[in-house]
Amino acid sequence: MSILLTGGTGYIGSHTAVELINAGYDIVIADNLSNSEAVVIDYIETITKKRPKFYQADVCDKAQLEKIFDENKITAVLHFAGYKAVGESVSEPIKYYRNNLDSAITLLEVMQSAGCNQFIFSSSATVYGTGATVPYKEEMPTGHCANPYGWTKYMIEQILTDAAKANNNLSVVLLRYFNPVGAHESGLIGEKPVGVPNNLMPYITQTAAGMRDHLSVFGNDYDTKDGTGVRDFIHVVDLAKGHVKALEYANKNLGCEVFNLGTGTGYSVLDLVNTFMEVNGINIPYEIAPRRAGDIATSYANATKAKEKLGWQAQLGLKEMCKDAWNFQKNCK
Ligand code: NAD
Ligand code: UFG
Repeated sequence: MSILLTGGTGYIGSHTAVELINAGYDIVIADNLSNSEAVVIDYIETITKKRPKFYQADVCDKAQLEKIFDENKITAVLHFAGYKAVGESVSEPIKYYRNNLDSAITLLEVMQSAGCNQFIFSSSATVYGTGATVPYKEEMPTGHCANPYGWTKYMIEQILTDAAKANNNLSVVLLRYFNPVGAHESGLIGEKPVGVPNNLMPYITQTAAGMRDHLSVFGNDYDTKDGTGVRDFIHVVDLAKGHVKALEYANKNLGCEVFNLGTGTGYSVLDLVNTFMEVNGINIPYEIAPRRAGDIATSYANATKAKEKLGWQAQLGLKEMCKDAWNFQKNCK
C-alpha cells in the first residue's frame, strides 16, 4: 500500500515526502519536472535512507496516471502538482486553468476508477480573497480572488467538495497553506525558484548570496505596525508534518474538511528581513519600493481548527525559518 504524491519533487512535496517516509509510509512520486529536478529523489533518499519510487509523469495525462495506479496499490493521494506563480497566472491565465484544473479532474477520475478514496489538496490562503478580515477562519466565505492562480484553487476546492458530496466513500482534506518558507535542516532540499524569485524569502536568500544587489520592500505605507506587509510565515517542515496529520484524519473521516495550515501569527516583511540579518550575521541591502499590484496589507491564519481536529501545531519560529533558508541557499548548486 502506497501514498501517491503528485508534484512530489517540488518544494512542499519533497519535504512532505521526507516526513511521510519518516512516519513509516511507502510513497510513490509523480512529477513532470516542469518546476523541479529529478535529483531531489536522491536527496530524499540521502535524508531518509529510503528511495521513493518515482515516475516522470504529467498528472493531466490519464494514461500515465492509470499506469501508476495499475502498478501500485495507491490508498491516498496528496496533490501538490500545479503551477503557482501569481504574476504569470495573470499574463497566461489559460495555461494555469488548463494545468491546475485538468490535473485535479484527471486525478479524481483515475482515483475513482481505481477505488482510491482519499484526496489531500494543496490549497492556499489566497482563496479568502481580497477584503477578508484577519485572522482567516475556515468557515469564512471564499472567492473574490485577486488572480487566476487563486481562482484555480477556489475552483478545485469546489470540484472536490462536490465530488465528496456525490461519493459517500470519498474523504477530501483541503489544506489552505499560508506562507511557507525555510528548508530541511540538512540543506539538501528547499525552495529553488527558476529565474528571478517572486516570493520574499528566496529573494532575501539570493540577495544574501550576492545574486541580487538589493531587495525591494514593496510598500511601507500599509496599515501595519511598521507599514510593510504582514504575513503568516510557516516553516516548510512544520507544513509537511501537517500533511502526515491530514492523512491520518482522511483515513478516519469521510466527507470534505478544510484546514488552515499557518502559525496563527503575522510578521511584517521587515521583521523577516531583520531576523534574517540577525540570525545569519549577514547584511541584506534593501530599498523601499512602491506597493506591488494585487498585494494585501495583512494575512494570517486562525490556526485553532488544525490544532483541535488534527492535533497539529507549528513548532518552528522565524529564526529557524531564516537559518534553514540560508543554509539551503548556501548549499545550492
Ligand atoms: P513547486 O512548483 O515547487 O512544486 C510543484 C511541483 O508540481 C513541481 O515539481 C512541478 O514540476 C510539478 N508539476 C506541475 N504541473 C504538473 C503536472 N501537470 N504534472 C506533474 N507534475 C506537475 O511548488 P510548491 O511551492 O511545492 O507548491 C506545491 C503546491 O502547493 C502547489 O499546488 C501550490 O499551488 C500550492 N501552494 C504553494 C504555496 C507556496 O507559497 N509555495 C502556497 C499555497 C499553496
Ligand atoms: N515582498 C517584498 N519584496 C519582494 C517579494 C515580496 O516586499 O521581493 C513582500 C510582498 O509585498 C508581501 C510579502 O513580501 O507583502 C510576501 O510576499 P510573497 O510574494 O512572498 O507572498 P504572498 O503573500 O504574496 O503570496 C504567497 C504565495 C501565494 C499564496 C499566498 C498565500 O506566493 O501563492 O502566499 O499562501 F497564495
